Amino acid sequence: MARDWVDWHTGYADPESTISRRLRAVQEQIRLALDAAPPGRIGVVSMCAGEGRDLLEVLAEHPRAADVDARLVELDPVLADRARAAASALPSRVEVIQSDAALTDTYTGAVPAQLVLFCGIFGNISDADIATTLAASPEFTAPGGVVVWTRHRREPDLVPQILDWFAAAGFEPLSVSPPDADYGVGAHRNTGPGRPLALGRRLFTFQR
Ligand SMILES: C[S@@+](CC[C@H](N)C(=O)[O-])C[C@H]1O[C@@H](n2cnc3c(N)ncnc32)[C@H](O)[C@@H]1O
Repeated sequence: MARDWVDWHTGYADPESTISRRLRAVQEQIRLALDAAPPGRIGVVSMCAGEGRDLLEVLAEHPRAADVDARLVELDPVLADRARAAASALPSRVEVIQSDAALTDTYTGAVPAQLVLFCGIFGNISDADIATTLAASPEFTAPGGVVVWTRHRREPDLVPQILDWFAAAGFEPLSVSPPDADYGVGAHRNTGPGRPLALGRRLFTFQR
């Protein structure tokens, strides 16, 4: 049976839940990426954005919010509506698309972005799909741009492999949460030239 992702989001009601603490770690990396973004427009893409809490709560108080042009992609209509409602109060331009985030065509016109969020995905797709998604990162991320990502640390811990896949794609680590945290959050910068988006591809399939 498919997972109830609206129910999953109720975990954010408890500020000490694992996902709430993970959210704060993600938001710290988003804040740092926005602080460091070059002057002018800041393109942002969020895959499987859920309610968009990570980005939207940071934008609510970030001095660069008015420079942000974001595309959030979320399949669930209830969550997409919540993200739209939260975004409506911001000075940023935020487009919430209710669509399949795994399809590369969904990102036409929004990439390469300065900030790319892969949050809440890598615990729900196969290792092969994670590798495929990371290999495509240079198509999503502008040169010098940042990917913020998450993955749980349960055994077998895939984070070391994820770091290797980022390195192979030309990304350097900016931050990786400590191994003993009960979540995994990282930020990687694209040190390469980037690559045009290859259309017509599926990057991953959610396993539940
Ligand atoms: C673990 S939640 C993460 C939500 C958000 N990124 C966060 O970290 O709070 C996974 C999200 O992916 C969405 N999702 C699952 N498959 C998807 C797909 N193929 N395209 C877009 N969204 C999808 C679910 O509806 C859910 O909101």
